[in-house]
Amino acid sequence: VFDHVVRGPEDPILGVTVAYNKDQSPVKLNLGVGAYRTEEGKPLVLNVVRRAEQMLVNDNSRVKEYLPIVGLADFNKLSAKLILGADSPAIQENRVTTVQCLSGTGSLRVGAEFLARHYHEHTIYIPQPTWGNHPKVFGFAGLSVKSYRYYDPATRGLDFQGLLEDLGSAPSGAIVLLHACAHNPTGVDPTPQQWEQIRQLMRSKALLPFFDSAYQGFASGNLDADAQSVRIFVNDGGECLVAQSYAKNLGLYGERVGALSIVCRTADVAGRVESQLKLVIRPMYSNPPLHGASIVATILKDRNMFQEWTIELKAMADRIITMRQKLFDALCSRGTPGDWSHIIKQIGMFTFTGLNSEQVAFMTKEYHIYMTSDGRISMAGLSSKTVPHLADAIHAAVKR
Ligand code: LMR
Repeated sequence: VFDHVVRGPEDPILGVTVAYNKDQSPVKLNLGVGAYRTEEGKPLVLNVVRRAEQMLVNDNSRVKEYLPIVGLADFNKLSAKLILGADSPAIQENRVTTVQCLSGTGSLRVGAEFLARHYHEHTIYIPQPTWGNHPKVFGFAGLSVKSYRYYDPATRGLDFQGLLEDLGSAPSGAIVLLHACAHNPTGVDPTPQQWEQIRQLMRSKALLPFFDSAYQGFASGNLDADAQSVRIFVNDGGECLVAQSYAKNLGLYGERVGALSIVCRTADVAGRVESQLKLVIRPMYSNPPLHGASIVATILKDRNMFQEWTIELKAMADRIITMRQKLFDALCSRGTPGDWSHIIKQIGMFTFTGLNSEQVAFMTKEYHIYMTSDGRISMAGLSSKTVPHLADAIHAAVKR
């Protein structure tokens, strides 16, 4: 009965790792998936995470019971505070409902399913380009996906005029996906002034913001600074949705820990929204996993551990900035044709190099360097040792 099933394509991002794993070359380098590596090229488990896990393991009173459908209460409260700010009026007025979900993707999907059922407008505008999974997450939830201009290849910066025009002509009430910081894949974010203009435009047209916050702390190294875009929208008293991921900033990739917050007009509405989120979640995966959320809650509620986390987070962000400088210097010293200053200007985990898919294919074939075909490289996967190899490959690809 399944004979007709055709083989589906690999995922454009996770499929890069599949191809990388098959490569036998000793110099192979995976700059595809956005996952942090140390200077030794190894995955990193933060010390503070190890410490929290030890505490959890040593606590014999802990059991493995099911969590409620909405997840761990402490985790939810602390997650809302982390992104909205401890002094957020929306939190103080109990207007926020937060549910623990399966990392950023799961949070986006639960939010999308909720909107498809309970929101009057089914069109969502996503930036062009955006994370490859976004259109699928929203499309499969039944929303109609359109895009707004975001990136200008000519300047390798923000197409702010295009963005304003496209959102300005969106139908009133449409949903707009915004990357809270460290835009993936471009590494290009609006300035605070531009965010304010976006907010004014969106509120004047009653466009509903849906923030994807996958990199809080990775743009500037500061958790509060990286949440400003979300906070200006929440502090004006209006509604919004926020999907949070702890994959990158706490390195909890495989634990699948994240949260969806929906900021409502009143506490009463928030309570009703939460009751409907439960009806979305229960038939999908019943309730979320315990371990990752317990790690996060342990760290967020302890002042010292929180402090330790911010230091480790900053160290990861700083190492990436160092890699940007090293790659930029390496290309300059090779005299690689073109302006590569965007490598040091872009922020977050990725550089959107401007390399085309043929150049990427060449680098994979000849240099065993793996990256997504849109020319995005994960700076977090690079180390001082591998920068020269990457610079050689880019140089050769550009000179072809
Ligand atoms: C990425 O863009 O590389 C990450 O968000 C990982 C993923 O799931 O695609």
